[in-house]
Amino acid sequence: MDTIKETKITPADKVLNLEKYIFVELDEQKEKARNEGVDLIDLGIGNPDRPTPKPIIKAAIKSMKDSKSHGYPDFKGKADFQATIKEWMKKRYNVELGSDFTAQAVNGGKEGIAQISLAFTNPGDLNIVPDPYYPVLSRGTWVASGEVYHLPLSEENDFLPDLDSIPKEIAQKAKLLIINYPNNPTGAVAPREFLEKAVNFCIENNILLLSDLAYGEVCYENYRPLSIFSIKGAEDVALEVHTCSKTFNMAGWRVGFVIGKKEFVDVVSAIKINFDYGTSTIMQDAAIAAMKMPHKYIKVTMDEYEQRRNYMVKALQELGWNVKKSNATMYLWLKVPSGRTSKEFCKMVMDKTGVVFTPGVAFGKMSDNYFRVSIVQKEKRLKEAIERLKKANIRYED
Ligand SMILES: Cc1ncc(COP(=O)(O)O)c(C=O)c1O
Repeated sequence: MDTIKETKITPADKVLNLEKYIFVELDEQKEKARNEGVDLIDLGIGNPDRPTPKPIIKAAIKSMKDSKSHGYPDFKGKADFQATIKEWMKKRYNVELGSDFTAQAVNGGKEGIAQISLAFTNPGDLNIVPDPYYPVLSRGTWVASGEVYHLPLSEENDFLPDLDSIPKEIAQKAKLLIINYPNNPTGAVAPREFLEKAVNFCIENNILLLSDLAYGEVCYENYRPLSIFSIKGAEDVALEVHTCSKTFNMAGWRVGFVIGKKEFVDVVSAIKINFDYGTSTIMQDAAIAAMKMPHKYIKVTMDEYEQRRNYMVKALQELGWNVKKSNATMYLWLKVPSGRTSKEFCKMVMDKTGVVFTPGVAFGKMSDNYFRVSIVQKEKRLKEAIERLKKANIRYED
């Protein structure tokens, strides 16, 4: 046959229009280096390296053996999951959630953010997201065929978005404002005044505020992040996303929850129900055990991160970087030495030393002059990474 038929089997525009996921490209580079026998020290990923605490594993095994876990799960989250979330919010964030609040169990915070974006965004709608951003914060909108207005985060403004800089017509059109504090990738934290400003901005402009609290427990030196629901008025405009991934070293388990007023959470449930049958009962039981276990299990992980952070901040300062100690997250956000893009710099570092960093551009087009260092390796490996940088004479120069 010499006639070429045009095929209808093409990806949807929402797929074709998606920007390339830079993490896929980075994974390919790492795979290639490993296949060539390079001993990579991967400080690029945000994957907790410590094990899930034993009480959680025990609860999961018990649940797995119980035939009640073998059928389809309770879609929103079973009664004891819902009750434990309310206890947890009171215990950890001093927030009393009333009977008009509910949670939707999700298979990780990433899914929760994507579902919220899908549930509230019509094609052509506009959502506001800071840059740099954890990818799904913008991608959720793009998958929903919406548009994103990116707000720059600058060092001068402590990596908090300047809400006053948002043009009036953007504020009037926007449906969602997404914030993430403690912040990935900058490590920044949000003071109460900023959260109040964000809530008031959303009230004034009739915008839904999505607060991504993935790092709500990854904090040091008596610093405690705030839940958005500790801010007056937030209950009428906000949803908050929580995950077990970082708090309990459960990134591979895939469990978290979205909380907020029932009328908002029900919208998320209405979209999610078309995609799956809900979060496995075994994972819900594991999350219940996690939220109920003594705080000492969380503290050992955070103490270790704190020690690693102290080491890395000092070592990187000695290499010329003006890096400040952040009181939260497992990330350091550093300037790329001038003359290179973030991708070029990180590729050069990997080729010369086997140390992997994430280029800032992976977190947004406005962030190409930064890179992220993730402290999810034992201190011994961090020390080796620093030795390799020194040996290759990689340091910060203007
Ligand atoms: C800012 C932020 N939000 C949400 C998530 C989602 O994590 P998970 O899907 O494992 O709950 C992550 C994971 O790295 C993150 O960094």
